[in-house]
Formats: sequence, C-alpha cells, structure tokens
Amino acid sequence: METFYFDNAATTCLRPEVVSVMSDVLNNCYGNPSSTHSFGRHAKTQIENSRKQIAESLGALPAEIVFTSGGTEADNQILRGVIRDLGVTRIISSTIEHRAVTHSIDQLVIEYGIKADFVNLLENGAVDLNHLQKLLEDSQDLTLVSLMHINNEIGVKIDLDMVANLCKSHGAFFHSDTVQTIGHYSINLSQTPVDFLVASAHKFHGPKGVGFAFIRKNSNLKPLIFGGSQERGHRAGTESVHNIVGMAKALEISLDKLDEEKAYIASLKNQFVTRLKNEIPEVKFNGNSDRVEETTYTLVNVRLPLSAQKAPLLLFQLDLKGIACSKGSACQSGSDSGSHVLSAILSPDELSKPSIRFSFSAMNTPKEIDFLVEVLKELIASAA
Ligand SMILES: Cc1ncc(COP(=O)(O)O)c(C=O)c1O
Repeated sequence: METFYFDNAATTCLRPEVVSVMSDVLNNCYGNPSSTHSFGRHAKTQIENSRKQIAESLGALPAEIVFTSGGTEADNQILRGVIRDLGVTRIISSTIEHRAVTHSIDQLVIEYGIKADFVNLLENGAVDLNHLQKLLEDSQDLTLVSLMHINNEIGVKIDLDMVANLCKSHGAFFHSDTVQTIGHYSINLSQTPVDFLVASAHKFHGPKGVGFAFIRKNSNLKPLIFGGSQERGHRAGTESVHNIVGMAKALEISLDKLDEEKAYIASLKNQFVTRLKNEIPEVKFNGNSDRVEETTYTLVNVRLPLSAQKAPLLLFQLDLKGIACSKGSACQSGSDSGSHVLSAILSPDELSKPSIRFSFSAMNTPKEIDFLVEVLKELIASAA
C-alpha cells in the first residue's frame, strides 16, 4: 500500500546525505572522543567541527552549543539550571508549551517552591504581549520567561526579537523552545538577545536522540547530567559522534535550502487549506493555522465536522488509507488526556469535535495533498 507521511512536526525522515555522513562516522570513526590517541582525536575533531558549523549558522559561539540527547533534555537542563544555579525564583510561561517545559515547571514548583505565572493567550493561542509586559512589571522576583517560538500543535508564533528585548528590558532571562523552528527558520543569535534556545535534530531531517542547548556565554549553568567532563563540563557522557555529525549535516542542508523549501512547503499548506475551504467549508482551523503569514508554514491543525463518537477511530481510518498524521503532540499519543494546547484555546463543544494536525515537509507533493483532501471528503461524507 502506498503511504503518505503528514506527521513532520512529530519527526522527519533522514536526508540521504545525512545517512551517508553518519554511516561514514559509524564505519570509520569509532574512537572515544575523550581518548587522547589518534582514534579519539579524530572523533573529537568531528564533534568540534560540527559544533563550529552549527554555531556559525546560528550566529552563536561554538562554546555556546551544548550537545544533548534532544529537545527534552535541553529544555530540562536550562529550566532546572536557571532555578538551581542562577537564583531565579519565578517562571513566566504559557499553558501551551510542550510537555518538556510544562512538566519541568510543575516539577520545579514542587522541588524549589518557585512561583509560576502563565501569560494570557489571545483567541488564536498567541501570547498576549501586553499581559506578558504586565507580568514582568508586577514583580521584583528574578524571573525566567519560557515561551516557545513556534507551537508544535497549532503553529502559532511569537516574535522572538520582541519578546527577547522585552525580557532584557525587565532584567528577566529568556528561554525559548525552538524545536519546531531550528532548521525551518533562520535565527541570528548575534542579534536576538535570547539567553537560551533548544533544538532537536529529528525535526529537521536529522537523527533521533540528539539535539543541543544554546546557552549564552557566561550564563554559569551547571550540568543536568554529572559525570565526566565532556562538553566542557556542561553535559557528561560519551558523545554520540555519528548523531552529532548527522545533526550538523541536516542543519547545513536545511539552512542551505531554507528559502526554496519554505516556499514549497508553504505552497502545499496553501493548497491544502484552499481545497478544504472550498470543498469542505465546515472544516475549522484551530489557532488560525490556515494562515501562513501568522503561523508556521509547516503545519495545519483542523477541526473536522464529525461527532465526538467518530473521533477515536479517525486516525485509524486514515492510517488504513496509508495516511500518517496525529491528534497533536506525538509524545501525548499514548495518553488519554486530550491536547492541553487545544484545551487552552477551544470551547468544550469545539473540543468534542475531532481535531487533527497535518504537518508537511519538502518530501510531500501536491499529488499527496490532493489524495489527503479526497480521503477527508470521503470520510466526512460517509459519516453524514
Ligand atoms: C516544541 C517541542 N519541544 C520539545 C520537543 C521534544 O524534543 P525531543 O523529541 O528531541 O526530546 C518536541 C518534540 O516533539 C517539540 O515539538
């Protein structure tokens, strides 16, 4: 059966060039990067070249890039570090952050008794910047603002520069979960005064199990994982050399092709949205995810005109047609609680209707989008 992959916000396929550099490292570069002999030095060089390349592409310094097992670890390291090491006693965040952030904050409230404030959201899920400003003005507590750049379920964005400058002007630290951004947008950290960012390679056609934290120079964060002195003491454990090299290659290609692929993926999103609006006008778009200018070009979150009873079977029915998509965050798919993101912005009636996230990559085609629309039309017609 032919298959159609529309779950690129959950993870992406590897680019062939990435597989090629990774297999080269796996075959020819197995030394431990901490060893001082030639095998170790060779592995270490591969890591440091990757770090340099990643840092340069983001306008950062190599020493500001700490390799981790992925976005979740990087978020944990930063959130825990600012509380434990920098004297931060208050976090301002939002209720639609990824669980790597919301659950970390919950835990920090329990462990350290810190204060957590949540910024109001506008109707489309966007952060209310006036409220953020008020929250920043209201307290003298040393504060960390943690707001994701692009939401992984509904694609809503914040203006990274604006929020970074706002935080700076109030003496607050700023962390942004940029897992859905890095490799999809260009970021220049020499211009944007954000303190901490995170990335995950498998969201931009790189391998799973590797990512990085950007930790601004002289931040003085201690590691999350203690042990050896790898990563200049920021993260213990033998480095995953092939994954790091694969991530650097994936980021290099994604950034080289960024404009071209962005335009192409946006055209797929527009094609999908336009056909849905014309042919199934009862479909609603959660969080304005139909608007490419307002939300990320990579995903659309739709609310289908189907009863609540049809919801549980929907993904299964799509899967039978070879279509891969998701209800929201992939890491929530095993849990019964619905999407915390949609719960934050939809009414109970709206929530009772099935919502699905379709997320695209440059590997999708207009023909696939046409097939997807036809299948949705069929499913909706057969449920009427
Ligand atoms: C916004 C966001 N943050 C964090 C993560 C977690 O990243 P990782 O899978 O690398 O742990 C994800 C992945 O789903 C994500 O979309």
